[in-house]
Amino acid sequence: MKHALNFALATGIALAAAHAVAQQHDPAMHMQHQAQAAKTAKAAPKDIRQAVKFPKVLREHTLANMRDHLLALQEIQEALAKQEYDKAGDIAEHRLGMSSLALHGAHDVAKYMPKGMQEAGTAMHRHASRFAVAAKDAGATGDVRPALAALAATTAQCVACHAGYRVQ
Ligand code: HEC
Repeated sequence: MKHALNFALATGIALAAAHAVAQQHDPAMHMQHQAQAAKTAKAAPKDIRQAVKFPKVLREHTLANMRDHLLALQEIQEALAKQEYDKAGDIAEHRLGMSSLALHGAHDVAKYMPKGMQEAGTAMHRHASRFAVAAKDAGATGDVRPALAALAATTAQCVACHAGYRVQ
């Protein structure tokens, strides 16, 4: 029951995020999505993500980075549970934060991304760096809640980008 509710909430948030991204950056596409949504209202949920073309090598590179993003989140949560706040902060900064941009070849990839996708990526890096600072603060204050909020703001960018885009 609780899981079903959480899932419904998560789906709602993801759709709202996709909607917001589409609306903000391409009104024409937003209208198209609405028309499509109306037509298929009773059918199975439709994949409304925008397909983005990446060269094959960059696509593979990006997906490998993505799997490392997920691993980094797992390692961060584990470090938080052990109250290893500096370690949590370092993982976030180096693997997800502003310091990870070169590692991810962000410069090469960004030019293939629509604006909304670029913005979600940049916002994710910013929030991860904010989390890194908040995690280190938690070591001093003993209050982990601001760090958890910053971590949630970071994963919200994963959710928003995934709701709006897929790669080909
Ligand atoms: C700027 C956009 C963007 C952000 C931000 C983003 N992703 Fe992704 N991610 C994608 C896209 C696009 C795909 C490919 C989806 C598809 O084509 O179906 C993807 C795929 C993935 C995959 C699947 C990889 C595979 O091998 O197929 C994982 C896991 C993932 N992302 C994790 C994350 C996590 C965790 C975060 C946040 C810390 C994150 N991503 C942030 C765009 C993003």
